[in-house]
Amino acid sequence: MSKKLTLGLFGFGVVGQGLYDIIKTKKLNLEIKRFAIKNPDKKRTLPLELFTTQADELLDDVEINTIVELIDDADAAFHIVSKALKNGKNVVSANKKMIATHLEELVDIQQAYGTSLLYEGAVCGSIPIIRNLEEYYDNELLHSVSGIFNGSSNYILSKIFNEHMDYDTALKQAQHLGFAETDPILDVGGFDAKFKLAIVASHAYGLYVKPEEILNIGIDQLSDYDIRFAREKNYKIKLVPTAKEIGNEKVILYVIPKFVNEKSILYSVENEYNGVVVQAAFADQQFFYGKGAGGHPTGSAVLSDIAALRYDYRYEYKKHLEATQLNHSNNHKITVYLRYNDESILEKLNFLKVSERHYAREFKYIIGDINLESLIANKDLLAADKGFVVEVP
Ligand code: HSE
Repeated sequence: MSKKLTLGLFGFGVVGQGLYDIIKTKKLNLEIKRFAIKNPDKKRTLPLELFTTQADELLDDVEINTIVELIDDADAAFHIVSKALKNGKNVVSANKKMIATHLEELVDIQQAYGTSLLYEGAVCGSIPIIRNLEEYYDNELLHSVSGIFNGSSNYILSKIFNEHMDYDTALKQAQHLGFAETDPILDVGGFDAKFKLAIVASHAYGLYVKPEEILNIGIDQLSDYDIRFAREKNYKIKLVPTAKEIGNEKVILYVIPKFVNEKSILYSVENEYNGVVVQAAFADQQFFYGKGAGGHPTGSAVLSDIAALRYDYRYEYKKHLEATQLNHSNNHKITVYLRYNDESILEKLNFLKVSERHYAREFKYIIGDINLESLIANKDLLAADKGFVVEVP
């Protein structure tokens, strides 16, 4: 028998509204009792008495047994989610930054208070990757999990490569369609994809890795030169997060733009769609594809978590509990194309091997091997130079 859920919903933005639209059409054993919102002056589509700006009116309401957290302030979200779990309420959240930053603490709270936190909607919108990593791939050795985890940057890259749209117009469209974060540097700077990667790594490998220890290079410095270079070689550029297990001892995590050719399964993942490629020892390659952003796709993942709570579903974090030899490491060599401006950064970056160089006044690039550690150590320098880095397959 399923349990009746009485929900308190935090946030009524794109995803909150999307979730509400879906719930309205269903006959589920649940009701939304109250909505907590930040801005009381915004026009709402529901009766005003359902809304409050006081978080505690939901968190201290004994009738509310389930909190759904869909706000975009990660610090406020952590306060809400941890208090709700400690008050004996189960929680569904789609806040990737908050979860990636506080995952270990949130797991401890769930264990101490016997409550459950689910967050399928936080990673790749509608794609059910967390529950699959947790349950289906429980006993599989995963060689890698990679793909396209950010809808907004993929939307921008698709518009540039397929429709010759300029970067700023494409970004404005992604914002207008409700795909982008409030601060879009989180999308185009590769931060959002990195938060999702940290969560994926946790469920794939049983590791807690702080986001600040993971390299993220975004698409914000993409120039016409880079686009021309890619086109001449029949490449598209995609923003690709990678989690890779190496030699049964280390796990490599990084987010970087990547050249992909038409043989790559990611080549045809366009617009706000995401794709997750799982490379497993026995199942071999598997591919998950679906919308990664937007109110209804993300709302559908949130609803699936809510529905699972009717049966008291919880992540067991089994991979964390098993003794594991795996450690996170940034000591890993990749091949990159680097378009740069100031020659002096090459010395600091310490390329291990150079396979190609191009030198013209306004367009200089180098292709060669470099260690992730060096890219992390020199990230500020790269940003100041306004260069662009792309992984070469
Ligand atoms: N800004 C995110 C994206 C929303 O573009 O993918 C979904 O997490």
